[in-house]
Amino acid sequence: MTTPQKIDVALGARSYPILIGDGVARNAAHWAEWAGTRKLAIVTNTVVAPLYADALEQTLGDRQVLRIVLPDGEVHKTLDGVARIIDALVANRFGRDDLLIALGGGVVGDMTGFAAACYQRGMDFIQVPTTLLAQVDSSVGGKTGVNHPGGKNLIGAFHQPRAVFADTALLRTLPPRELRAGLAEVIKYGLICDAEFFAWLEAHADELLALQPAALAHAIRRSCEIKAEIVARDEHERGDRALLNLGHTFGHAIETATGYASWLHGEAVGAGLAMAARMSMHAGWMAEADVTRIERLLHAVGLRASAAPEVDAAAARAAMNLDKKVQRGRLRFILMRGIGRAFVTADWPPEALERTLVAQFG
Ligand code: NAD
Ligand code: GLY
Repeated sequence: MTTPQKIDVALGARSYPILIGDGVARNAAHWAEWAGTRKLAIVTNTVVAPLYADALEQTLGDRQVLRIVLPDGEVHKTLDGVARIIDALVANRFGRDDLLIALGGGVVGDMTGFAAACYQRGMDFIQVPTTLLAQVDSSVGGKTGVNHPGGKNLIGAFHQPRAVFADTALLRTLPPRELRAGLAEVIKYGLICDAEFFAWLEAHADELLALQPAALAHAIRRSCEIKAEIVARDEHERGDRALLNLGHTFGHAIETATGYASWLHGEAVGAGLAMAARMSMHAGWMAEADVTRIERLLHAVGLRASAAPEVDAAAARAAMNLDKKVQRGRLRFILMRGIGRAFVTADWPPEALERTLVAQFG
């Protein structure tokens, strides 16, 4: 175990810490501080439970702990899944003062957070994210929810966790493809507002792919710092928080057009980052050399920069009109004036989008 790094998400009375480091979730002192002696339910899934649930229960010691194991996968991120959590809480007489622990990736985290938001009008939960994507993005910021057959994340609530324990030791069992998908979100933070971090990622991509602990801890810390700053400025996404959706408009189009089957969320966001860069270039806002750097870094970490040939431009166009970022008939895009200089705009040249769609989709 190393000394954890601590970042605070500053939201007044709802502020909370993100602890980052090897072994942070196995440290009984952290649980004593943030969970006290409350009755606990660990919500996890069939993949993560056999890997980490016993160890976590051991760390929790004598406390009364219920284990709720959900089926694995995005297709199970539904109201039915949340109902299963709530049924277990009712059956085991959980009250508003008890506490949920989300042990898993973004799917488990989003569902557990939503169950915590709803159960008895709101109870506390702690996030123990086990994927890189969840450690740098979904566990922080309080967006919780589930999918609806009509669209992704259509049902949800803002509900902040009491703490986030981002334990880098848990990433050792992560399939390499999931690690790469998480790196897309890490690259996103450099592109949003930190050119120096982007350059650091270019220099340390190999160490991250090899799960080198110091490199991982640095990448997670800087990503969480950036997310925490943006969330503290704009918790409910009335303005700046939309920057966190860089790459997501194109990414959602890829996911929707492929039926959420063949692309992981992070993989789609990775390609979406390249597309946002190309659109910024076509709009005259970004230099081609920056686009090349972005595409090179995506390729270096094993991600794609284009959706061709699986998704054609017509399918992407159709999917984008359904995107929740449509405002008064005009899509808002997150574009860039250079690496580390993202901005939100509804005022973009239509030909820049058209050129991007034609070139980046099959
Ligand atoms: P995921 O939760 O489906 O996890 C990916 C896979 O890895 C799953 O099969 C999971 O069981 C497995 N897994 C998890 N941890 C593991 C480990 N340590 N070792 C081995 N296998 C492990 O996917 P994800 O990428 O973590 O999250 C994606 C979800 O997060 C999407 O539903 C997306 O909408 C959501 N999301 C939410 C936010 C937010 O702000 N709330 C932000 C980004 C993404
Ligand atoms: N992942 C986008 C957000 O948290 O706002």
